[in-house]
Amino acid sequence: MARRGMMDWAGGGLPGLAASPMAEAAALARADHHRHGEHPLVFDDPLALALVNPAYRLLVRPRLGAWAGRLTGFHRTFLAGAASTLARSRFTEDALVAAAETGLDQYVILGAGLDSFAWRRPAGMESLRLFEVDLPAVLADKQARARRAGLPQPSYADPVPLDLATPDLLPTALAQAGFDADRPAFFAWLGVAYYLSPEACCSLIAAVGRCTAPGSHLVLDVLDAGAFAQPRLPELLAKTRRIARLFGEPLPGGLLREQLAAPLAGAGFAVAQSLGPGQLAARYLAGRRDLCEVLPHLQVVHAVKPPIGGT
Ligand SMILES: C[S@@+](CC[C@H](N)C(=O)[O-])C[C@H]1O[C@@H](n2cnc3c(N)ncnc32)[C@H](O)[C@@H]1O
Repeated sequence: MARRGMMDWAGGGLPGLAASPMAEAAALARADHHRHGEHPLVFDDPLALALVNPAYRLLVRPRLGAWAGRLTGFHRTFLAGAASTLARSRFTEDALVAAAETGLDQYVILGAGLDSFAWRRPAGMESLRLFEVDLPAVLADKQARARRAGLPQPSYADPVPLDLATPDLLPTALAQAGFDADRPAFFAWLGVAYYLSPEACCSLIAAVGRCTAPGSHLVLDVLDAGAFAQPRLPELLAKTRRIARLFGEPLPGGLLREQLAAPLAGAGFAVAQSLGPGQLAARYLAGRRDLCEVLPHLQVVHAVKPPIGGT
């Protein structure tokens, strides 16, 4: 897939910026939270900083980002985006831990970006195999960053280079990496649906359905229809889109929460839980002064393929 990145619009003058600037922004949010967040943290990722471009690290370390952001009005958008990123990651990894306790031992991250799970695999998950799916350039960039940070590729983590706009290739690509479609797996698909057309999202859900055994899980985030109910997008969403476009990663699409039930059911999944902005804020942000709101109309959805004999 042709991608126009920061390198292009910066005329190649800014070396080393991420192949996926929005993945970099998500890692930056986790790094910033680890470094400066109020305790208890919403989600602790002590390795995010190591994967962030050194130029961006300067933003985290002395909190220059916050000062510059206040001046440019960017700060509120960054904080709402950061809170959303942290809340969905926390929700996902809590559900993953619970699933792993039942014996599930395969974790697939669709659009893994700079997620550092490969090096953070928690105690008790020693048998978990990880499959990281993303565009080839993004995975290569991540591997180069990890090498530079002294983080060797773990034997239990396999990169699966794939353009998710061609979702039909997913089952084969995973199988070639050693994924066992006959055993339950946990799929996380965070911050990615916005890049794909609704049709590609539906095909991707169908593809996940074809390669998942009963007892599997899928967590994803989407917007609800209310986001588009007004003539204009709510300001925070419009700004997020503008920033993504500016950085060469337009977010044209996605599937709406209201459109999820049919493709999920067709793939054998039932929604177990769906949290909107108010529920996410109440669960993860209550009483905090560092993070106050998540992006409006965000929905984090946890779908489960019922185990055999289950409901
Ligand atoms: C906003 S980042 C989120 C990364 C990660 N899931 C997280 O939460 O930190 C979106 C990710 O989706 C990936 N992505 C976007 N379009 C894709 C496509 N067509 N195929 C594979 N990955 C894609 C990007 O490269 C990027 O890594």
